[in-house]
Amino acid sequence: MTTIGVLGCGLMGAGIAQASAAAGFRTVVLEVDDATLARGLARIEKFLAGGVEKGKMTADEKARILANLSGTTSYDDLRDCGLVIEAIVEQVEAKRTAYARVEAVVGPDCLIATNTSSLCVTELAATTRRPDRFGGLHFFNPVPLMKLVEVIRAQTTSAATHDALLGVARAMGKEPVSAPDRGGFIVNRLLIPYLLDAIRCLEQGLGTVEDIDAAMKLGCGYPMGPFTLLDFVGLDTTYFIADILFDEFREARFAPPPLLKRMVLAGQLGRKSGRGFYTYA
Ligand code: 3HC
Repeated sequence: MTTIGVLGCGLMGAGIAQASAAAGFRTVVLEVDDATLARGLARIEKFLAGGVEKGKMTADEKARILANLSGTTSYDDLRDCGLVIEAIVEQVEAKRTAYARVEAVVGPDCLIATNTSSLCVTELAATTRRPDRFGGLHFFNPVPLMKLVEVIRAQTTSAATHDALLGVARAMGKEPVSAPDRGGFIVNRLLIPYLLDAIRCLEQGLGTVEDIDAAMKLGCGYPMGPFTLLDFVGLDTTYFIADILFDEFREARFAPPPLLKRMVLAGQLGRKSGRGFYTYA
């Protein structure tokens, strides 16, 4: 496999494209229009420039990574891909349309992987003509810094596809963990109830946002407290995943607390909207 396609150059897609290009794969990242593509590529350029500034890489390494990367708005440019990783909006219909457009141009051996954090991978695989050559590659934000990739085996994913996806994750310098196609996989199955519980604790007056964050950060050695992490992940994203988990398992611990719902309805989504549990400049 020499060429990898990435659908979507948002927060996750940009990180995945960067990791792929850094690993030496010829990487083609696709966006819906030129302006969105330019914003995504600028995000990658900025991260790499930050790496050079911090002494994490040389200017030559940055140039080598960028040379492996090209952006496009045309599905035709994905024709040589051995793997296409999809990181677009979390809507089954949008993904189904994107997969059909990929399948119209790629060869029969091309694998498709979704970066979905919460949708059923088996359902997505079933929308394609290659459910055996389809699986999940769930990256974590910020992709260039987070070592984990969950490699999801759908009901129909072949053993060869699963092994190939584990290999690609390793080639990208990540540490893959096989996870089953069950709501939330491993990380979100455990992380989301923890984050929801932190909101319930806040609602019940257990402590302030700052105190609960400080307690979990300093007491457990977590890099971020739950409210900093909620703002980082996005309150809308957390709410969306919680709803899917609740729908799948019908357990109260997955039910979104009232405060989370109200904050999402008010547009208080965390860092991305400038306000969540904290306010951002
Ligand atoms: N290029 C290269 N390296 C860089 C860099 C860049 N542009 N920017 C930062 N780094 C390096 C730093 O030099 C540092 O390296 P060092 O440890 O060797 O010194 C390291 O990356 C950490 O960077 P910083 O010191 O600037 O920042 P922090 O120490 O504050 O760490 C963080 C930032 C990695 C985001 C950390 O806070 C963290 O791990 N937070 C938790 C993130 C998390 O939980 N993510 C998962 C969210 S859940 C998810 O994604 C799933 C989804 O489905 C919801």
